[in-house]
Amino acid sequence: MRLISVEEYNDKTMQLARPIYDKHKRVLLAAGRAIHPTYLKKLIAMDIRYLFIEDSISFGISMEEMVDVPTWMDAIETLQMSFKAIANKEELPIRQLQKLVITLVNEVGKRKAICLIPTSSIAEELREYAHAVNVTLLSLQIGRKLGISQMQLKDLAMGALLHDIGKALTHRVEDHMVVGFEYLRKVREISLLAAHVAYGHHETIDGNGKPRGMKEGEIHEFAQVCGIANLYENMLSKEGLPPHEVMEYIMTKSGTMFTTDLVKLFVQEVPHYIPGTKVLLNNNRKAIVTKIIGNLQRPYIRYLDNGEELSLADHYTLLIKEMVIDEVTSIN
Ligand SMILES: [Fe+2]
Ligand SMILES: [Fe+2]
Repeated sequence: MRLISVEEYNDKTMQLARPIYDKHKRVLLAAGRAIHPTYLKKLIAMDIRYLFIEDSISFGISMEEMVDVPTWMDAIETLQMSFKAIANKEELPIRQLQKLVITLVNEVGKRKAICLIPTSSIAEELREYAHAVNVTLLSLQIGRKLGISQMQLKDLAMGALLHDIGKALTHRVEDHMVVGFEYLRKVREISLLAAHVAYGHHETIDGNGKPRGMKEGEIHEFAQVCGIANLYENMLSKEGLPPHEVMEYIMTKSGTMFTTDLVKLFVQEVPHYIPGTKVLLNNNRKAIVTKIIGNLQRPYIRYLDNGEELSLADHYTLLIKEMVIDEVTSIN
């Protein structure tokens, strides 16, 4: 399986590998078939930018670093319910949220690394919730590496899931951290720690963040974790940048937005390339990333010309020059 942008789709050589859902979370296109050009246009009209496909070069690539789509969609649904409940002045579906927290802690716990499904692979109406789920998955991956206890990981997850919940309560985006915090700290079942994640996720250690301009040492560590995951997720999903470019950008924020220790950990623990990415190496040969084991910055690749597979961690002179995107579909 591999993830491609819609422009790369070729109905002669590719089959859809994962279903595509509409805004009601119903299957719009089932897996295992080619996408008819009419439907492809429909997807483009829905602003769906990524597809999971299977083709002759994607064999053996499992993408087990990504949570499976039904789990992801369930999580999105619970969050959508939560946001809607709050906007309607109803109570949070707290039992479901607690169940979701446990699911996500387990999902991250059973994987060595986490790759995110870009939110632009589903209908626009669901992206805000998918964003929060992704931020939570990433926060948990980092939290686990920070050695945070199982108990506190749950608080971190709850905070990350609801980090933007203030947006359901106010139209003034700049207020969503404070409004979210004020709301969450009054919910008996939610820990103050989780509320602080919502409060501090736009603070930066140089004091230029919001809402209070707190400095290093004043911002809760969990809020910083959520903050870095939030930045990463937005650049990946909203701005559509490839993971390695997002990573480079995050590195430039070391010591200003986030502590150098946190950025270092992030760079070590979050994959720079997603399995299934087509790349050009510095020996001018094209390859596909097949798996990430051990060193997340230097994955395994398979040459497209002769099928030879090797680990970049064992070949230090080999570098990935760029991602290769073969545009096939003409979008008009
Ligand atoms: Fe936010
Ligand atoms: Fe966010």
